[in-house]
Amino acid sequence: MARVALVTGGSRGIGAAIAVKLQDAGYRVAANYAGNDEAAERFTAETGIPVYKWSVADYDACAAGIAKVEADLGAVEVLVNNAGITRDAPFHKMTPQHWRDVIDTNLNGVFNMTHPLWNGMRERKFGRIITISSINGQKGQFAQANYSASKAGDLGLTKALAQEGARNGITVNAVCPGYIATDMVMAVPEKVRDQIVAQIPVGRLGEAAEIARCVVFLASDEAGFITGSTLTANGGQYFA
Ligand code: CAA
Repeated sequence: MARVALVTGGSRGIGAAIAVKLQDAGYRVAANYAGNDEAAERFTAETGIPVYKWSVADYDACAAGIAKVEADLGAVEVLVNNAGITRDAPFHKMTPQHWRDVIDTNLNGVFNMTHPLWNGMRERKFGRIITISSINGQKGQFAQANYSASKAGDLGLTKALAQEGARNGITVNAVCPGYIATDMVMAVPEKVRDQIVAQIPVGRLGEAAEIARCVVFLASDEAGFITGSTLTANGGQYFA
């Protein structure tokens, strides 16, 4: 029986690439999304992967959404915490709302999604939690105090949970993408983006599929000895 994988923020960008690569690898995949209905419908039409709408920032919505996915597809054995947002601003211009929005989605969202699934994974003695952090959680980034804090928090959560999950067959790992050619990075002003690309030794932005391949590897049964790790994929921009 194919394992069930749930990808948050799975209808666009890196999440969509992950969902597709997991499906290609034989998983039964569900994709969560929060806002863009049109993109989600298009994604399902193109891939056949069902989409489920809720905000990862809302614990009760996560619990209810997960219950629906499990009723439709079966117990979730692979969770990919990919949903993430930016509210970039230099700190002197960053508002409490900018701070809260990013922490609620990028860090609290990982708790909200992982917590309702944890006991089931413990009981079944198998689980894969893979969280998409970021190069900017490793090195910090100008105008991203909120985002960098959230993504660094994801790494701490990953390492703590890895210790708790190990005895029950649950691995917990993080992937730290560098700058990938997605809507999020394309929203950075072009001049700034050019400066960023100049700092990437391989000389280009990454592709979403390059991050998806990392996730498929960490999700596999064969990766059972890898836990608490951070897999960095950033074109050589930063060595953690
Ligand atoms: N280091 C030092 N100074 C910097 C800087 C940097 N990296 N980036 C900008 N500055 C400076 C500018 O030179 C400018 O200085 P002056 O005032 O002396 O000209 C100042 O900071 C910018 O001030 P502004 O008031 O003009 O800033 P703004 O309110 O217009 O904000 C910005 C602009 C939000 C900072 C914009 O430049 C930006 O979006 N930068 C990119 C931030 C970034 O890398 N975000 C990552 C998004 S992708 C992602 O997050 C995915 C992932 O995981 C990798």
